[in-house]
Amino acid sequence: MVTPAAVVCGIGGHVPERVVTNDELSSMLDTSDEWIRTRTGIRTRHVVEPGGSTGDLAVRASEAALRSCGRRAVDAVVLATSTPDRPCPATAPEVASRLGLNAAVAFDVAAVCAGFVYALATTSSMITSGIVDSALVVGADTFSTILAPTDRTTRAIFGDGAGALVLRKGQREERGVLGEFDLGSDGTGVDLITVPAGGSRQRSTGSAPDETETYFTMQGKPVFVEAVKRMSGSVTAVAARQGWGVADVDQFAVHQANARILAAMAENLGVPVERFARNIERVGNTVAASIPLALRDAVDGGSLSAGDRVVLSGFGGGLAWGSVGLVWPDLTPAESEENRAEGIPR
Ligand code: COA
Repeated sequence: MVTPAAVVCGIGGHVPERVVTNDELSSMLDTSDEWIRTRTGIRTRHVVEPGGSTGDLAVRASEAALRSCGRRAVDAVVLATSTPDRPCPATAPEVASRLGLNAAVAFDVAAVCAGFVYALATTSSMITSGIVDSALVVGADTFSTILAPTDRTTRAIFGDGAGALVLRKGQREERGVLGEFDLGSDGTGVDLITVPAGGSRQRSTGSAPDETETYFTMQGKPVFVEAVKRMSGSVTAVAARQGWGVADVDQFAVHQANARILAAMAENLGVPVERFARNIERVGNTVAASIPLALRDAVDGGSLSAGDRVVLSGFGGGLAWGSVGLVWPDLTPAESEENRAEGIPR
């Protein structure tokens, strides 16, 4: 019997309308456009309006992805997020229902900025083992809702957004087949990226947390070093398993955490930085949405085309990281409203 493969057949994304510029942040916090641009590469980020949620963004990105491949239905919705609409239950079942997919397999995957690659690995396995024939894999986060209002560093970096790929059962020789994965974690780094309160360890104390403990915290410098090291290693491992040299990879769709991380990885890997998909200027770090949004914008902008060898790579809280390789399929992304509004070429 021929083992089926999981094939990428649709792509879509969505960011909220509200744009926060570096100048707007500088009017509220002790920061500047110059610091943010030179230390991170970010110029703007998008944030949800009061009452908006991760699920809302996931629905919009999923609709765009389904439209891009002319599908109305899939068997599963797998949502990578660490800012679910509620602590319990998972957000994916409600997203599936809002898409009209009432009996779909639906669950969340929590691996912070590596979540999208972990969700792809899980979903790919469900397709190759025959559990489902098709799926939406969505990465969506609204980190604006968990940042300390006074934290100039995290507020400069993070933005909200959602991105989605549609996967279907196919053959191993096709373009778009999800190829080799590399996944890993190092829980000794748990405190480098964390929201200290709100989970069982704090709630079992029976005392209300300090407000500061309810916000996201990150130790920027060690995270930067680990991000470069782990993603460079993981990308190299995937390229080797695919039978490619790192220099043969046409496009690296790497988590958009800091433009200097992308530059350091390019230097480490000995490839031109132009081969790294890059939309951090416009959207900042959108956590689980980062990789699919970067892919969508690379397709929209013409830097990623059918037949290109691509490696996706994510790294973040956990610590957790993951990469996957594929030959890019012939996809037309559903036109994104924000790209049209901002005049970004398709
Ligand atoms: N505006 C102005 N100054 C700021 C600032 C801001 N928005 N944020 C931090 N600073 C200040 C710091 O307070 C510090 O001041 P000090 O020297 O007086 O103490 C100075 O800038 C340098 O801070 P530092 O943390 O050393 O800066 P950095 O060059 O390491 O950049 C990050 C900070 C967060 C941008 C960077 O470390 C980074 O991108 N880390 C990785 C993030 C990541 O990969 N996340 C992925 C997982 S989600």
